[in-house]
Amino acid sequence: MNIIITGGAGFIGSHVVRLFVNKYPQYKIINLDKLTYAGNLANLKDIEDKPNYKFVKMDICDFDGVYKLMQDEHVDGIIHLAAESHVDRSIKDPFTFAQTNVMGTLSLLQAAKLYWESLPEKWEGKRFYHISTDEVYGALEMTHPEGIKPPFTTKASSGEHHLAYGEKFFTEDLKYQPHSPYSAAKASSDHFVRAFHDTYGLPTIVTNCSNNYGPYQFPEKLIPLFINNIRHRKPLPVYGKGENVRDWLYVEDHARAIDLIFHKGKVAETYNIGGFNEWKNIDIIKVVINTVDRLLGRPEGQDMDLITYVTDRAGHDMRYAIDSSKLQRELGWEPSLQFEEGIEKTVKWYLENQEWMDNVTSGDYQKYYDDMYKGR
Ligand code: NAD
Ligand code: DAU
Repeated sequence: MNIIITGGAGFIGSHVVRLFVNKYPQYKIINLDKLTYAGNLANLKDIEDKPNYKFVKMDICDFDGVYKLMQDEHVDGIIHLAAESHVDRSIKDPFTFAQTNVMGTLSLLQAAKLYWESLPEKWEGKRFYHISTDEVYGALEMTHPEGIKPPFTTKASSGEHHLAYGEKFFTEDLKYQPHSPYSAAKASSDHFVRAFHDTYGLPTIVTNCSNNYGPYQFPEKLIPLFINNIRHRKPLPVYGKGENVRDWLYVEDHARAIDLIFHKGKVAETYNIGGFNEWKNIDIIKVVINTVDRLLGRPEGQDMDLITYVTDRAGHDMRYAIDSSKLQRELGWEPSLQFEEGIEKTVKWYLENQEWMDNVTSGDYQKYYDDMYKGR
């Protein structure tokens, strides 16, 4: 197969590209990325010279460019991750989110439709796989702030933290109720993907995943931002009371799910992806502080005084919790890591890759493309 992975220079995309390039030497993997502030080719240093990998700097909104690339490379599959992904930025600049997440997705859909329709085999062996988020479902109520044991067990949690904060979970049949400009734009793109299946028969799949954590995440997001701030003893801005709940999944487990669903998922289906691993922000922040302190040889908990409660995020969703039992039941996927292992690995990675972090925070990473690719 010849596969375009969009947003492959970003956080999750780089893990998906790495997995596909290493696991499928017989495929050609084309990483299509505009390299916005969130795209960093240093995330893919280890695979950039592999013969089955190609990087193309392109905006997904460039319909002509995408259409030509599909023809030139005889593309059979698209795994679409490119997006503006940060909620706080969407509150400041909603236009960019509508442009990239909605119009960009539409441009990819239309290019795929026109190209595949023109082939003798049409949709046969083709896949348009759209990566979406649990935020499109809106927010769940926190009916049990003290926590309850959910009625399922996975390897993702040790039991001690295996709490849910309400009886309701995001299931695939829920009505979309996005609240932020980011999630509204993602919801809109999901609707376009479904519309292209229902109207034209495009072979689409959509997945909605919970919060990812792990290496190579841009340090505007909670976990890498806080790890870096703790290291440098800078304040940790906790929104509101820190009581909001997120459901955390190790990024490589998301990449494995994407691989499985791309190959085995049913066309026109939606699958939710998550690890039944709910955490209040303040609790996860304490775990991160203790882990960073321990790994840096500081007395554990010393940096709790960095916690600084700040004004809440506008429209801050209270609780996300994914029910991924459909994916477990139908395709046999489950997270491979205990949360404790995942967070330990993640903190270790950021502490051992301070150069990566410094390049990102200084802006130097944006020169990587010029050094490595310009003129190639
Ligand atoms: P990210 O912000 O780290 O990376 C986004 C990538 O897309 C970057 O490489 C950027 O350069 C590229 N990009 C942005 N606009 C582009 C454009 N117009 N044309 C081409 N490339 C462009 O994002 P992420 O956290 O890796 O998220 C990837 C996808 O997964 C997104 O669609 C996001 O909505 C979804 N998602 C993320 C999470 C999470 O926790 N991070 C959870 C569920 C779903
Ligand atoms: O649920 C999936 C979503 O997870 C993805 O679709 C998004 O792309 C991804 O960014 C993430 O969204 P969140 O808004 O949940 O992630 P973020 O890391 O920005 O924030 C996590 C929680 O921590 C959230 O409740 C807000 C809070 N927070 C965040 C930051 C950056 C703080 O309290 N302080 C902070 O400085």
